[in-house]
Amino acid sequence: MPLSRRSFVRALGVGGAGTLAIPSWIHARGLEGARGDAAAARVLRDGMIRLHSNENPNGPVPAAIRAIHSAMHESAFYPASLERRVIAALAKANGMPEERIMVGSGSGEILRVAVQAFCSPSKHLVTAIPTFETPAQFARQLGVAVREVPLDAQLRIDTERMLREVRGAGLVFLCNPNNPTGHVLDKATVDAFLRAALAADPEVVILVDEAYHEFVNDPAYASALPITATEPRVFVSRTFSKIYGLAGLRIGYAFGAPATLGRMEAWRLPNGIGTLGQVAAIAALEDSAQMRREQDLNRAARSFTARWFSDAGYTVVPSQTNFVLVDVRRPAGDFALACARQEIQVGRTFPPLTNHSRISIGTMAEMERAVDVFRRVLG
Ligand SMILES: Cc1ncc(COP(=O)(O)O)c(C=O)c1O
Repeated sequence: MPLSRRSFVRALGVGGAGTLAIPSWIHARGLEGARGDAAAARVLRDGMIRLHSNENPNGPVPAAIRAIHSAMHESAFYPASLERRVIAALAKANGMPEERIMVGSGSGEILRVAVQAFCSPSKHLVTAIPTFETPAQFARQLGVAVREVPLDAQLRIDTERMLREVRGAGLVFLCNPNNPTGHVLDKATVDAFLRAALAADPEVVILVDEAYHEFVNDPAYASALPITATEPRVFVSRTFSKIYGLAGLRIGYAFGAPATLGRMEAWRLPNGIGTLGQVAAIAALEDSAQMRREQDLNRAARSFTARWFSDAGYTVVPSQTNFVLVDVRRPAGDFALACARQEIQVGRTFPPLTNHSRISIGTMAEMERAVDVFRRVLG
């Protein structure tokens, strides 16, 4: 019997009374929610619409669900040998040689091992603020100095100011498109920044995080991937957690020079990516038509949501991702709490943007319900 994406998820007990019940706080909060604004987190319940962690509201892509189903038995075995197959599939899908690819337990693991491999107490991390915070959090835990560069007045990553912090750095983290703003830097800006940053320090390594790459439709944008072919100190990370809908299966990857990836590989947890995640990733890569459908669904619901906020008089950062950042003109934590009381879970606060709320894009039906709540909450 064919399984729909939602019925498969229900059969696993996620979001319903299945046999493998998952503690409610895990699926109600997700990773970001678990760390998020405490007051809003206290009112989280099962069945809420989850617009807080930039996941795919449609679930894993159908090919991945089929692959997971048929690989259940394989879960009895360690998955290490499967990694070569994932890397081969990534190589084919991206026209890259296999030796220039590494995988990780989510791209989060790649961000973490990058800090371990390239930073030290005498080699700082350069990052924006706000941006995705795993590298900065991990650097602090390791006693690595973090230089955080504020966004510019339009909430874009300020590459010129970032450049001033590069000399002596171990790693520069450039998130493009940026989370939590959704803003994308164009190709010319990224190219100029990478060239200048590499020239500013003979050893610095630059990580371009492209977790939201597949959502971008701005023609001025281009991936930094081609640069990694000629420049061993630049590498790119991506993930299966967003457009492919595999966030719960923890699989991400990076493209770069073998020597650069090798330094990170040494820090990875062996067998860190489960069997089901790997078979799902291979299947998902083969279904490029589904990818286009996901892009269309996201764009339609994203325009609907952004238009609703601008029509209501709120400023929305132009987004090239599966979330929008909105100036709600009140503390974002209060807004999140009020929404949570009405079954909608939005993102936590991203200091210093304390009046901006990050709202992940759900299905169109979810966003139609959500804007009713936003209308009531915003008065
Ligand atoms: C910009 C960015 N990078 C990396 C990640 C980590 O994702 P994952 O570890 O699920 O691949 C996220 C997750 O939200 C993100 O927003």
